[in-house]
Amino acid sequence: VPPEAPQRPRFAVLRRIPEPALDLLGAAGDLQDAIAGADAALTLLYDRVDDALLDAAGPQLRCIANVAVGYDNVDVAACTARGVLVTNTPGVLTDATADLTIALMLSVTRRLGEGERLVRAGAPWSFDMFFMLGTGLAGKTLGVIGLGAIGQATARRARAFGMEVVYAGHHRVAEAVERELGGARFMSLDELLSSADVVTIHCPMTPETHHLIDAARLAQMRRTAFLVNTARGPIVDELALAAALHDGLIAGAALDVFEAEPNVHPDLLALDNVALSPHLGSATVETRTAMAVLAARNAIAAVRGEPPPTPVNPEVLPLALP
Ligand code: DGY
Repeated sequence: VPPEAPQRPRFAVLRRIPEPALDLLGAAGDLQDAIAGADAALTLLYDRVDDALLDAAGPQLRCIANVAVGYDNVDVAACTARGVLVTNTPGVLTDATADLTIALMLSVTRRLGEGERLVRAGAPWSFDMFFMLGTGLAGKTLGVIGLGAIGQATARRARAFGMEVVYAGHHRVAEAVERELGGARFMSLDELLSSADVVTIHCPMTPETHHLIDAARLAQMRRTAFLVNTARGPIVDELALAAALHDGLIAGAALDVFEAEPNVHPDLLALDNVALSPHLGSATVETRTAMAVLAARNAIAAVRGEPPPTPVNPEVLPLALP
């Protein structure tokens, strides 16, 4: 009797992902769009990975490969309890997200959205010394909340605009990094909020950072300051932000992420001093491809019992071999 052929691993791809990742997965196993019976699943940030989804997948599931650096959509503890590896996609989206952060910062400080709306509306305008003046960045202070990879990449870009860098977070970064960022100063969040001209958020979304920026924290900011959020919407209390902007407590905000995407609080939509984009931080062809390929590599390694490139809960390793 010939030995039974080993079963090909089954990869659940729950949403559309770039072709090169599908090619990798297809070469390593069989693709399906349902979670049931999958050995590994590629998930996106709107897929809630909880006990219900893990139950639906079945006990053979070995890996949740999230195609995002953030994994607040994944109940990691529930996965770990079942021995399911979770992976994310750090690194490959750092530059794209930092680029977009700077684009939004420029957009709000130089009133680009407002200007474009005016031109498109056919409103009368003419150059004069006081027309649509914005705020310059040179010599100003960028306050980075969370000086991880994306925070550092953003700060490095801000240095090129002549900004000083201060930061708050769980811990100080290496002195070499502070030096490279022109002597970036570590400080408390309170101090950062009261001293920065632009505050940019780059921490992960956790129970601890939910509504980290609320009405009280917004009131600590300078009336001339801007808030930029390209991390996760619920880190900012959107209603409080809309009120702070309306009341002139801060000068403006630039948001790529929202509390209840794709909905945006209507009060924000009514304000001219807010730049808005629809969660585009990693949205370049190159970056999305790299993210999907990294997620595919993670999933393939996991089903083979090999160390995955970017695990979130490596404590579930080593994986049982199939
Ligand atoms: C992430 O990776 O967490 C972004 O929000 C989507 O690219």
